Amino acid sequence: MSSLKGKDLLTLASLSSDEVYLILSRAMELKRLQRRGSPHRLLEGKVVAMIFAKPSTRTRVSFETGLAQLGASSIYLGVGDLQLGRGESIEDTGRTLSRYVDAIIIRTFAQSDIEELARAASVPVINGLSDDFHPCQALADLLTILEKKERLAGLNLAYVGDGNNVAHSLLLGAVKVGLNIAIASPAGYEPKSWVVDLALEDLKGVTHKVMITNDPKEAVKEADVVYTDVWVSMGQEKERRKRLAVFRPYQVNKDLLSLSKPDAIVMHCLPAHRGEEITADVMADSRCVIFDQAENRLHAQKALLTLLMS
Ligand code: CP
Ligand code: NVA
Repeated sequence: MSSLKGKDLLTLASLSSDEVYLILSRAMELKRLQRRGSPHRLLEGKVVAMIFAKPSTRTRVSFETGLAQLGASSIYLGVGDLQLGRGESIEDTGRTLSRYVDAIIIRTFAQSDIEELARAASVPVINGLSDDFHPCQALADLLTILEKKERLAGLNLAYVGDGNNVAHSLLLGAVKVGLNIAIASPAGYEPKSWVVDLALEDLKGVTHKVMITNDPKEAVKEADVVYTDVWVSMGQEKERRKRLAVFRPYQVNKDLLSLSKPDAIVMHCLPAHRGEEITADVMADSRCVIFDQAENRLHAQKALLTLLMS
């Protein structure tokens, strides 16, 4: 039985370094089985509820597909489908769903709502993205870097753009595995200081580095991995015009990429906006591993589900 059985995954802060590596090695094993066409119905008969208050392509489809491949079934619940949408409490929703299903995946706005659900639920709760964190994305990202570079510790990861949910989870994930991470964001859009503090706490006695800067060139210098995400996240649409202007100098383009190591890989969690945070030529470059990264959502989440649920 794994140390993760029965636990929630609300942020990567709750995982030990060994647990992160356990998820990654299980993901590689399940990916091999899937590629060979070997059945791996490790969650036969289990049922998972998936509450989504925001749209999704990758998270929804990779979870639903992964659960089917593991022999489990899923119930997709838009908030408008639930009584939650007309005022039933998160607590009562969590208590009720726990009487039926074996785990709950939730994508919503406030991280505190996910935490409230997890407190009320007696089954594992998985954060499928909140305004503050996207832990499942970061697990797939670490898997992708490990596959492409054959190691994690000691590599330089540069994240250029909004200090958002994706940046926060990468930061928490990086410190677990010894990646040096540099995050370059415009002033006022840096990662939240309490998340940076959480990451720095994890670094106690460890030599790898965390850099938070406003200078994208400084961040990508000598980078092994260059990562970006949208400038306007879900829920920020009203700020679109302002954000596009503020973030313009933070575009990942060929000029910026030329400052990284020649064999640097380019990552993006998707959906991408070509011509905004990343140029079309960089998206089409052979160093871009974005769709391998998207595929790895499937394998990383299958690993996570089996470790939390069996
Ligand atoms: N990267 C990601 O979470 O994509 P979706 O919003 O499509 O799920
Ligand atoms: N930061 C983006 C990630 C999408 C997967 C958002 O929250 O919309």
